[in-house]
Amino acid sequence: MAETRLPAALQGLRIPMIAAPLFIISVPDLVIAQCKAGIVGSFPALNAREAEGEPPLLDAWLTQISEELDRHNQAHPDRPAAPFAVNQIVHRSNARLDRDLEICVRHKVPIWITSLGARVEVNEAAHSCGGVVLHDIINNTFARKAMSKGADGLVAVAAGAGGHAGQQSPFALIREIREWFDGPLALSGAIATGEALLAARAMGADFGYVGSPFIATDEANAVQGYKEMIVDSGAEDIVYSSLFTGVWGNYLRGPVEAAGMDPDNLPVADASSMNFSSGSSKPKAWKSIWGAGQGIGAVKSVGSAGAIVDRMAEEYAAAGARLAQDFQG
Ligand SMILES: Cc1cc2nc3c(=O)[nH]c(=O)nc-3n(C[C@H](O)[C@H](O)[C@H](O)COP(=O)(O)O)c2cc1C
Repeated sequence: MAETRLPAALQGLRIPMIAAPLFIISVPDLVIAQCKAGIVGSFPALNAREAEGEPPLLDAWLTQISEELDRHNQAHPDRPAAPFAVNQIVHRSNARLDRDLEICVRHKVPIWITSLGARVEVNEAAHSCGGVVLHDIINNTFARKAMSKGADGLVAVAAGAGGHAGQQSPFALIREIREWFDGPLALSGAIATGEALLAARAMGADFGYVGSPFIATDEANAVQGYKEMIVDSGAEDIVYSSLFTGVWGNYLRGPVEAAGMDPDNLPVADASSMNFSSGSSKPKAWKSIWGAGQGIGAVKSVGSAGAIVDRMAEEYAAAGARLAQDFQG
């Protein structure tokens, strides 16, 4: 990729792809594998949870990831690792935010992904260490707001995305944002093949933002049953609900049924029930109620994260070559 209008941290990826941060699931092994495979790897800062009284686990994770990627780059200067991203949940219930920002500035985190709230101070913290901020949004209004608060780029979370997701068609969302914004733009939602990645690029996005396929990987911090359910499920097995976190999102039906609920008649939750404090019971919901996006029909087996990137890179190149024929002559 030679996209010189993008910030340096987002240039030179093997394919134009950012691995999305996944609550609980994204741990250093997964992030390192994603970056070594040539795409941006990421994790939510909140995944690094130390026991009370212990030093911040986030500090240790960032040291581990940086050292491992440095070692890789020294050994393989011909195929250096892509940079990594840390996701900050910018919600008032995240009591750790200030501490986590300080740790990320100290480690000079190259890419920052912010969700659930756009705040000037968070963007300033990222910029103070040379970081690039991508803020995730589900509509054009939030996109404008995020940019007005100083983000550098956007992640447009369209219909069908795993976890918290929007309801708009990606065609509409990307089009509306591209009418006024020409900076870094990633598209999120059911991108699980190289063909879908190419479609995202054709629509005007710079990157595909891919989450659910990485749940079914050896490196993911998920129980085997969850990984297998990703492999065995398709778009019809996904339900859209606000019940589990207070924000609308996509989940696998099976565990919802197993918990004694009717996936087709779930009550609507109040947004004020959102809580990301460490003592909250809400994150536990994600342990028993499993998030996933509509693209998982493309996931056929549990394997390495690198194998997903290899597959998508091959599909991307083949789809590009096939479509290029339409424009010859
Ligand atoms: C299980 C799960 C957990 C997620 N956790 C987070 C999170 O902590 N922070 C965040 O910004 N997005 C989170 N997301 C959303 C993803 O970052 C991304 O938008 C989504 O996975 C993309 O759609 P896809 O799963 O269809 O590829 C999560 C998604 C899933 C499936």
